[in-house]
Amino acid sequence: MSAPVAPLHRFASDNNAGVHPAVMEALAAANHGHATAYGDDPWTAMATRDFADLFDHDVVALMVWNGTGANVLALGSALSPAGAVVCSDCSHINVDETGAPERLLGSKLMDLPTRGGKLTPDQVRGLRHNLGVVHHVQPSVLSITQSTEWGTLYSPTEIAALCEVAHEMGMRVHLDGARIANATAALGGSREVLRSFTRDAGVDMVSFGGTKNGMMYGEAVVFLDRELARSAGYTRKQFTQLPSKVRYISAQFSALLCEDLWIDNARHANDMARHLYQAVRGHPAFHIASEPSVNSLFPTFSPTVEADRIEALRDWSFFYDWDPSLRQARWMTAWDTTPLDISAFRAGLDHFVG
Ligand SMILES: Cc1ncc(COP(=O)(O)O)c(C=O)c1O
Repeated sequence: MSAPVAPLHRFASDNNAGVHPAVMEALAAANHGHATAYGDDPWTAMATRDFADLFDHDVVALMVWNGTGANVLALGSALSPAGAVVCSDCSHINVDETGAPERLLGSKLMDLPTRGGKLTPDQVRGLRHNLGVVHHVQPSVLSITQSTEWGTLYSPTEIAALCEVAHEMGMRVHLDGARIANATAALGGSREVLRSFTRDAGVDMVSFGGTKNGMMYGEAVVFLDRELARSAGYTRKQFTQLPSKVRYISAQFSALLCEDLWIDNARHANDMARHLYQAVRGHPAFHIASEPSVNSLFPTFSPTVEADRIEALRDWSFFYDWDPSLRQARWMTAWDTTPLDISAFRAGLDHFVG
């Protein structure tokens, strides 16, 4: 039997998706005449106001090229001398940034073991004995990811508790929000929800994701404490994260933030992940431990499925491994996933590994 038609929008990652039409329109609209480079342009002024409105706070928002750059810039702005970054063992900064924070910041990452990517206040408290000891790096920034790399969520109360401990210990708190939109949508889908787990919880700075939410490229570092942004402009340039035509990133963000398209896009991606879960749960070839909270599923293939059948499935519609030692993969939905993609993928699963 010949293979079914592969999904148009595959399930590899939300950053495999294309650009949302409203973002494309915004890019075209920004493509008008000359504008002062390096951020001194009307689009960047507008996006900065949009971020201030979003957080209802006097923020500094710096546009950057990508998420790794956003994280490194944010962390570097808050590290004290001999400072270390406390993070989860599976955090993107720890496992997926090719050591960029260590190389560029010259700082140790203190990666703590987590279940589902979530740190606890007790783990942070447990690092207290390092403080003031000249032989030890000084826990200086706590970095958490929301939603986590495992697709789990911190509640606003959990983040507030982490911030409280971190601040008591003289640390600053960074939130890697590559998927902050998915978290916001999953926790209730409003600006108030976003504020509840960032500004109100005590987060000091946010890497605010755009690329996975319908932008062509670009992320922003949003400093909720302006003091931390004092030298960030220089650092952004030194870390090669200052685009001269920054207006094109700013215009994209305004398109997403306007009328909360960012939440709609993320809600759609999250809904599609739940639909995918419903469509494939109980499949004999793999097991998925729980219904997704955001837009990722982590299927573990059964030992009875031959490796070459999984590879044939992957060749037909690409996806990444998550933990090859467990035969675990990751499937992700995006703002543009459709029910048709899901039924096509289900047909492919039956065909290749069914
Ligand atoms: C949790 C998290 N943080 C940050 C990033 C940003 O990475 P990039 O540098 O590829 O934009 C990603 C991308 O996959 C991510 O999943």
